[in-house]
Amino acid sequence: MKIAFVLGTRPEIIKLFPVIREHIRRDIPFAIIHTNQHYSPEMDAVFFQQLHLPPADYNLEVGSGTHGEQIGRMYPRLESVLSKLKPEVVYVEGDTNSVLAGALMASRLGIPVAHVEAGLRSYDRRMPEEFNRIFADHLSEYLLAPTEKAKQILLGEGFPESKIYLTGNTVVDALNEVSRLGDKQKTVELRWGVGKRSYILVTLHRPENVDYNTVLRPIIEAIDELSTKFALPALFPVHPRTAKRLHEFGISLPESFVRLEALDYLSFVQLEKEARLVITDSGGVQEEACILGVPCVTVRLKTERPETVEVGANLVTGIEKEAIVAGAEKMIDKRTGWPNPFGDGKAGERIVDIVMERQTGGRSLP
Ligand code: UD1
Ligand code: UDP
Repeated sequence: MKIAFVLGTRPEIIKLFPVIREHIRRDIPFAIIHTNQHYSPEMDAVFFQQLHLPPADYNLEVGSGTHGEQIGRMYPRLESVLSKLKPEVVYVEGDTNSVLAGALMASRLGIPVAHVEAGLRSYDRRMPEEFNRIFADHLSEYLLAPTEKAKQILLGEGFPESKIYLTGNTVVDALNEVSRLGDKQKTVELRWGVGKRSYILVTLHRPENVDYNTVLRPIIEAIDELSTKFALPALFPVHPRTAKRLHEFGISLPESFVRLEALDYLSFVQLEKEARLVITDSGGVQEEACILGVPCVTVRLKTERPETVEVGANLVTGIEKEAIVAGAEKMIDKRTGWPNPFGDGKAGERIVDIVMERQTGGRSLP
């Protein structure tokens, strides 16, 4: 039995980590195929190091580009590696260009695709991720739905029940690992000079927000207004896409902001845990804030993580300045203690049980 993982970006490394770890634990042979969609050390290598993942077996060196350029470069390189490797299952996670290319080539070669985090929908077709995740679901044999809602979405779209498995979200497993690995001595006060619950944590990287000067500026202004009003600095680890745009648009961050490089996982989760409020447009950060009990404001029109809103952990404000400020004022003193809708932290184990059981027809592994 040989398994392949196709991954390419920061969140895929984090969320596939629990599944890869389970293969290591069970001694199941596997290969990691890294598209290198993300390649800067702070978006890539640091996560392999911190999570003690083995280095990728294949590096497709695809780098940055448009959707067409990235998929175009990934596709023949995946064809060559997968044809040689002949894995029995290919895992992909989420909704990036790497996921679409991986699912497309594997299924073209007749290799079953296991899609971790299947069934999410934002119903916003402007988002490249919506397109990618819908196609990935259609190409997959194993639809590994993180929540009951995701499962119901898939059933509602006519996917056969026999392909859908409710697993929980692997991000809970990853967060549990961070609690084990984190250095308890280094408080946020010592590292960043901010007290517990006395800062806002900000992340922004969605193209529909940061690629437009007219959208990005008012978002920054809204955060500045909030930060000033509540006397809470806005700690902002900047994604490379956003760094490029801030530079291009000549936007200098107001004094209320503390600009940081994109952070390693342990540092970022530590900041998430102790923030007073998270303001984000990230998918994974919405989930993590909810799991960690920190109120979140999502500066987007729609979310594919409605569970976070339903439990009261998250508010989707849209992208207008006044709406962001009003939404954040509502959330900032929100009482926490909502239930975690993303599962019990055993998604990695469950996923490997499901795939191995079906692939081996219930027989034990050679
Ligand atoms: C990608 C995914 C998005 C995911 C995000 C996670 C798609 C369509 N988008 O968006 O779904 O939420 O990753 O962070 O697949 N860059 C660097 N170094 C890197 C990577 C990128 O400097 O290691 C810069 C480049 O200027 C690049 C830009 O960031 O052009 C955007 O990178 P790209 O991978 O195209 O998209 P992301 O915005 O990272
Ligand atoms: N993250 C990180 N460092 C940062 C910002 C985010 O380690 O500076 C982690 C975060 O904890 C989450 C994941 O990256 O697990 C989310 O990735 P991102 O926001 O890039 O993508 P998305 O989830 O929106 O696809």
